[in-house]
Amino acid sequence: MYSEPDYLNADLKFSGTDIPSGKMAWRSPSNIALVKYWGKKPVQIPQNPSVSFTLSKSYSETEVTYTPTASGELEMEFYFDGQRNMAFEEKTVKFFGSLSGIFPFVNQLKFKIHSANTFPHSAGIASSASGMSVLAMVLCDMERQFFDALSSENDFRRKASFIARLGSGSACRSAYGGVVIWGETHGLPGTSDYYGFPVNEDIHEVFADYQDTILLVDAGEKKVSSSVGHGLMNSNPFAVKRFDQARNNLTELLSALRIGDMKTFIRITESEALTLHAMMMTSQPYFLLMKPNTLQIIERIFAFREKAGLPVSFTLDAGPNVHLLYPKAIKGEVKRFIDNDLLPFLSPQEYIEDEVGKGPEKIL
Ligand code: DP6
Repeated sequence: MYSEPDYLNADLKFSGTDIPSGKMAWRSPSNIALVKYWGKKPVQIPQNPSVSFTLSKSYSETEVTYTPTASGELEMEFYFDGQRNMAFEEKTVKFFGSLSGIFPFVNQLKFKIHSANTFPHSAGIASSASGMSVLAMVLCDMERQFFDALSSENDFRRKASFIARLGSGSACRSAYGGVVIWGETHGLPGTSDYYGFPVNEDIHEVFADYQDTILLVDAGEKKVSSSVGHGLMNSNPFAVKRFDQARNNLTELLSALRIGDMKTFIRITESEALTLHAMMMTSQPYFLLMKPNTLQIIERIFAFREKAGLPVSFTLDAGPNVHLLYPKAIKGEVKRFIDNDLLPFLSPQEYIEDEVGKGPEKIL
């Protein structure tokens, strides 16, 4: 059992008038869960461990300009795609404010934040994962730069992952590249409910550059937020069984990831995706995030896999879009399949050809 790291630190504060001005920018990717986090306890503690692939091309890029505040209180302007965005601003002010015990310096600065995503936000492509992890990277980078702290890369990443988790659970997995587990996992020392844990050393090479083509079925705003969905698990009659199942699936999937067993990978990841949506359908109030075209695509994936004998599978996030997962070696065949069979079900007729990536990157 790992205890919560104590990051409260009243010393991380500028003294007197010695408050810096400057600029910093990071890029942080989204991730796609293979075993899903769905259900949590306060504060942002998952009911079961989850594991994901960190992506490469679906990322948030965020530039933060900071100056001393005139008011002595946290100030912020938040721009998304070049436009001031009050909804994101409120969310980020709340997030930074909630971190003032960990980073007291936030109350001494005025932040001007410019952010953009390479993919549509709130479409079930975990935009909170990239958006919150990128902010966590910036805050930890400020601590590192101004207070001579977090000098080891391990300490830096772990704290960034911890902070990202407080912003959005799944975001803690985006602090690292490759395959990342979040949640204490039996037999896997180092895993924790408080931060992500990368497991890349033991992963089979076929999964190191696994492909994730994100098929946009409906890029609109989703109707039920993940936070509400997690909350409904508190009264879902299948919850306890589900959390047990996820634990078992994680153990089995991890061994498949290690030995390169794509058959088991497909069976577990597809079952996880359908179970996630089954949990939504069996909550009270129940809700549906899949669309008719989500099912059309899934049916065609089953048929293609059967006919072509290729290891192509799907997973779903909390939304209608389908993530098509397959090894890089069959990229050409899969592209032809998408272009010939799946394009009519996409709206807009677009897909994002993503793959497992290396994790956040400092760009300024
Ligand atoms: C279905 O991380 O978005 O994508 O912690 O409330 O911000 P909050 O939820 P969030 O939930 C993600 C749920 C999921 C599965 C997963 O990524 O594991």
